[in-house]
Amino acid sequence: MFAPRQKKEKIKLKKGAWRRSFRIFPYLKPHAFKFGVGLLFLILSSLTSMVFPGMAGKLVDVSNSPESNSGGGFLNLDNINSVAGILFVVFALNALFSFIKIYIFSDVTERVLAKLRQDTYNHLIRLPMNFYSQQRVGELNSRLSSDITTLQETLTTVLGELIRQVIIIVVGISLLVFYSWKLTLIMLASVPVVVVIAVFFGRFIKKLSKTTQDKISESNVIAEETFTGISNVKAFANEFFETTRYKNSTDSIRKVAMKGAIWRGGFASFIIFALFGSIVLVIWQGVLLKEAGEIEIGELFSFLLYSVFVGASFGGTADLFARLQKAVGSTEHLFDLMDETPEPLTIDDSPSVLSEFKGAIEFNNITFHYPTRTNVTVLKSVSFSTNPGETVAIVGPSGAGKSTLVSLLLRYYEPVSGEIKFDGINANQYELSSLRNQMAIVPQEVILFGGTIKENIAYGKTGATDEEIKAAAEKANALQFIEGFPDGFNTVVGERGIQLSGGQRQRIAIARAVLKDPKILILDEATSSLDSESERLVQDALDKLMANRTSIVIAHRLSTIRKANKILVLADGAIKEEGTHEELMLIDEGLYKNLNSLQTDLQ
Ligand SMILES: Nc1ncnc2c1ncn2[C@@H]1O[C@H](COP(=O)(O)OP(=O)(O)OP(=O)(O)O)[C@@H](O)[C@H]1O
Ligand SMILES: [Mg+2]
Repeated sequence: MFAPRQKKEKIKLKKGAWRRSFRIFPYLKPHAFKFGVGLLFLILSSLTSMVFPGMAGKLVDVSNSPESNSGGGFLNLDNINSVAGILFVVFALNALFSFIKIYIFSDVTERVLAKLRQDTYNHLIRLPMNFYSQQRVGELNSRLSSDITTLQETLTTVLGELIRQVIIIVVGISLLVFYSWKLTLIMLASVPVVVVIAVFFGRFIKKLSKTTQDKISESNVIAEETFTGISNVKAFANEFFETTRYKNSTDSIRKVAMKGAIWRGGFASFIIFALFGSIVLVIWQGVLLKEAGEIEIGELFSFLLYSVFVGASFGGTADLFARLQKAVGSTEHLFDLMDETPEPLTIDDSPSVLSEFKGAIEFNNITFHYPTRTNVTVLKSVSFSTNPGETVAIVGPSGAGKSTLVSLLLRYYEPVSGEIKFDGINANQYELSSLRNQMAIVPQEVILFGGTIKENIAYGKTGATDEEIKAAAEKANALQFIEGFPDGFNTVVGERGIQLSGGQRQRIAIARAVLKDPKILILDEATSSLDSESERLVQDALDKLMANRTSIVIAHRLSTIRKANKILVLADGAIKEEGTHEELMLIDEGLYKNLNSLQTDLQ
């Protein structure tokens, strides 16, 4: 009933996270020169922006003096037109520098990110099944998108901004001292302190309002659940229970919102009193100094503007630092993934061909438990073997370990003990990609990709021609229904193939396997979701496909496996009976015989 709620993201960095995040630097290295040029323009644009307050003060002083518009060259700072002209030039330069800076930083960042994305993806796709059974796919996607977006923001803006703020603070304070060191001391003792407090105060309030949002969505979940499941509510006469639940939830929204309101009010008072108070303090002291003749009115004006710059930069730095911290967290997440050990695959266009591969399989005393559930032994000392071209059927109750056995065959997982051999050679001796290339599976649950039917079949063999694809579809008894669609092979199958029926999906998966033309074919309940007519069609397709290759067939319906060379009865992770249909039918009270009579009784 309760929808999973998202965990609130908290930035808590592990020890050494900052140092570890330096692993991003090798990615920057190839672009070091460009990055340096970007830095140069960053410094230039920051410096030019610092000219403005000084010049603005000059404007005030010049307009105060009687001979303001009188002659002199362009660079005469006592001429109001010159000062204004210089200001325009400075702004133009600043605009240009800023543009170049943004362009260069973005260029470097995008290159770094593209490489990082590719590396992460290449790494992820090679990680073993074991890794995927422990991770949520959504989480992995967020690594690829949100963590990298955080990094992008950091590299394009945060780092540069931080440098810019530091320049403004350092240059700004030097200039302030130049105007009046007394006033600077007064300013430094008040403004930055207040600004930094204000920034943290503001973040705290933001967090509170997020809590309110969370509470609101909680109550929305209640409403949504009960309305969609209204028949449940009514059937169990739980209206009262639900109204109480909703009332409690909405009451807690009010409480949290009020708490936020009090803090927001406090924040407003703080800003009014402390921030404006500190500004008034500086102005008041400044005017006193002017009275004493220590500072000109224009200089005081410049001083105040610089103070605003410096104060804002202090606030900005605090905020940027928090964002930087978040980026360090993201970098750490990413590199944690990069540290997972991948499968030893060869990823290239032409995986080596095992031309001599025949497809004999041997399981010797295989014992296995899933890495996530070490206390449940799924396979217990399983041994069997098959000659090339033979069909082995595996039957047994649900949860017996049939699909697990197949996963081991595909080398998704490493057995805990025992040995798997192909053509008499230990499976570990084979190169993983080439070995898997010899096998094809029609899985229990067929999941197609979102593209067209053609693309989905072609997944069995990259670079297959249209004729090959059509032939494969024909062998899989899929041609008829595919050509029945208005778009034929170009029919879009929808996400995970939902626009096709279960039987159609299975036949596409079979066509894929046909196209791959493997030495070992694995069928895990390949006809499970079919009515008897489609089952006949698919079974027919499978019989054709199984000819001349080693086949491992998992089936619930025993009628489909009568002709198998060998039938294994798996129960509780162990092989209980082994033999041909006729042999197993001779065992009195045998599991297979029992199952068989149950199923024939049903028909
Ligand atoms: N990824 C996994 N992690 C942990 N345990 C698993 C995993 N997959 C399966 N299991 C467990 O292993 C046991 C065997 O599962 P398996 O899927 O091999 O059964 P099966 O014989 O194929 O059953 P069915 O006929 O229902 O398909 C089950 O108890 C199951 O809960
Ligand atoms: Mg299964």
